[in-house]
Amino acid sequence: MDTALSRNWERAVVTGGAGFVGSHLCTELVARGTAVICIDDFSTGRPENISAVRDHPDFTVVEANVTEPVHLDAEPDLVLHFASPASPADYLKLPLHTLETGSLGTRNMLALARANGARFVLASTSEVYGDPQQHPQSEDYWGNVNPVGPRSVYDEAKRFGEALTTAEAGAHGTDTGIVRLFNTYGPRMRGHDGRAVPTFIRQALDGDPLTVTGDGCQTRSLCYVDDTVRGILAAAGSDLRGPVNLGNPAEISMLELARLVIELTGSRSSVRFIDRPTDDPAVRCPDITMARGKLQWEPRVPPRDGLARTIAWFRERQSP
Ligand SMILES: NC(=O)c1ccc[n+]([C@@H]2O[C@H](COP(=O)([O-])OP(=O)(O)OC[C@H]3O[C@@H](n4cnc5c(N)ncnc54)[C@H](O)[C@@H]3O)[C@@H](O)[C@H]2O)c1
Repeated sequence: MDTALSRNWERAVVTGGAGFVGSHLCTELVARGTAVICIDDFSTGRPENISAVRDHPDFTVVEANVTEPVHLDAEPDLVLHFASPASPADYLKLPLHTLETGSLGTRNMLALARANGARFVLASTSEVYGDPQQHPQSEDYWGNVNPVGPRSVYDEAKRFGEALTTAEAGAHGTDTGIVRLFNTYGPRMRGHDGRAVPTFIRQALDGDPLTVTGDGCQTRSLCYVDDTVRGILAAAGSDLRGPVNLGNPAEISMLELARLVIELTGSRSSVRFIDRPTDDPAVRCPDITMARGKLQWEPRVPPRDGLARTIAWFRERQSP
């Protein structure tokens, strides 16, 4: 049984709730009977992501920047801190905002959780491992991050957020958890957010060449968003402090991914090789022993199924 099913919350705050992962969390929590307050500044999120729950009586949107203290009338018993630009295209465009959201934003949301005696969960990332020298990456690996490279605004913001969350639990006894998400994909991603899955799908559906960086041998692990959300709520429902990796250990190279997308879309697109970005990791694969053991969680959706569902969603949006 999923640990998450054994715990329900009355009221959850989801920061970044209008984003890709956050909006799926909002939908799932509302479906489970939890009242949800979504806090979002819409810097990278979209109103349409929450259109399915917007009119639900248990759903409230607060348009606010979490780097400023947020005052709520209601008392949450769960705070899921997911606000942050997440795709390289976004955080390279918003470098200071990204650093402030990971630092000041995390501080403010920890204060909100502490004031209400709520469980707090930080969305961290596999990017804390940088360009890893250990493969697959387990939680006790400290990472290989360039602190002044272009990706540092994201990587170091998340690393600082993890340090702050850990210190908060030690200093104030706040009930905290940290989830390190590996690449997640699914409906509601933006076709131009620069991440491989939506980029390939958009290009394949438009009949454009799929732009694979480098020689395409670099690998990623791709987890379908429903699996990721189930893992996050399992971690939230547990007393695990973490960090805990959540991702799909089935590794796929970028070239394989491009070919799979071409096959599943039935596209006539070709593959075009382009330069690889600075500090782009060569390998990325989670060791999920901890999530399996402590949360009884592992991904269930095979890449073909998840990609087919994502492609169907993109197609639906393309049709007139
Ligand atoms: N999608 C992934 O593969 C992945 C992988 C690892 C970690 N994560 C983490 O999960 C979280 C969500 O990622 P996503 O892919 O859904 O990204 P996203 O860009 O779709 O969503 C982020 C949301 O946060 C909001 N936001 C950003 N800064 C804010 C601020 N200061 N105040 C209020 N709202 C703010 C944005 O408007 C957006 O709605 C992020 O914290 C990200 O680091 C995601």
